[in-house]
Amino acid sequence: MILHRLESKLWESGLLAGYQRAAGGVWQPERLALSQTVQPHCATEGVSLDERSQVEMSTSFYEWQIYKAFLGQNLGGMAPGLPLLELGAGDGRITRFVLQMGFEQVIACDCNLGALRRLRSKLGPEERDRVVLIQNDIGQLSFPPGYFGAVIAIEVLYYLNEGYEGMLERLHQILAPQGLLMHSEPLLEGALTYALVAQDWDSVRSLCHERLKIEDIGQGQIARSRVFTLTELQAAGRGAGFAWRDLRFTPALNSVAVKQIGAAALEPEAKLELLRGVRQLLDSGQNPRCALVAAGKAQVD
Ligand SMILES: C[S@@+](CC[C@H](N)C(=O)[O-])C[C@H]1O[C@@H](n2cnc3c(N)ncnc32)[C@H](O)[C@@H]1O
Repeated sequence: MILHRLESKLWESGLLAGYQRAAGGVWQPERLALSQTVQPHCATEGVSLDERSQVEMSTSFYEWQIYKAFLGQNLGGMAPGLPLLELGAGDGRITRFVLQMGFEQVIACDCNLGALRRLRSKLGPEERDRVVLIQNDIGQLSFPPGYFGAVIAIEVLYYLNEGYEGMLERLHQILAPQGLLMHSEPLLEGALTYALVAQDWDSVRSLCHERLKIEDIGQGQIARSRVFTLTELQAAGRGAGFAWRDLRFTPALNSVAVKQIGAAALEPEAKLELLRGVRQLLDSGQNPRCALVAAGKAQVD
């Protein structure tokens, strides 16, 4: 087996011990056992956020502009030479973005093999040299303390539910002293906006009382994920030793508009015109759906 530059480096340093390189260039544990904390739809359906982010009549299109600005500015000051870990990489819109930024050592993990294979198929040979794709449950990853200059987890950690706080603690351990964690989590306000528009009273109840989004994903299966108030989110970060350095929002009303206008009985051009009108909400920071947080290690007195 011919390993490329980054694979050889990780292999020689023992970080890929217990993994094997499967067809399609994705690394898998010799005995892959996704834990029960992996939500059923994450294991079966690979996301297509990279494709959706190109379609103007989609929530992802608008949110991607915000994510790119947030990641670009926060990563801009970091040395691209330090390893970067991406959790829940999906089909790779962020992986490709950080590779384009020049990061030399990117480790991207997702539980979904199909999404990772699609991600890899979009990379040129030079980009493949700088990334290792791992199919695993992010809760099962193990890296040496202080190893990463940055960890990115966009719209993924909240799927860990009870494991959320423990994961933040592990991320704190594997970040270098000046390392940065960039993550995005859904806020109660945005989730409630959706549930109220849909008049889904069970959801309103579980969001308010348990901070849980419970989705019926068909075939008798339920997906659970966390939502937070901003105060709860900050407290969780602080509890794991993080201090926030940057905070932005994606607007909820924007994505409600995408859904409602998309379903309207109008010509496509008329829909786009309405949607572009709503787009000004992008910069308003009002009515947030997700909080985008960049957090560094808190100073210990
Ligand atoms: C909403 S998508 C976000 C994808 C990507 N971060 C982006 O913004 O384009 C969430 C991703 O997290 C992955 N995921 C969820 N729980 C996971 C777990 N426990 N271990 C590994 N991946 C997980 C899913 O398979 C999915 O690809």
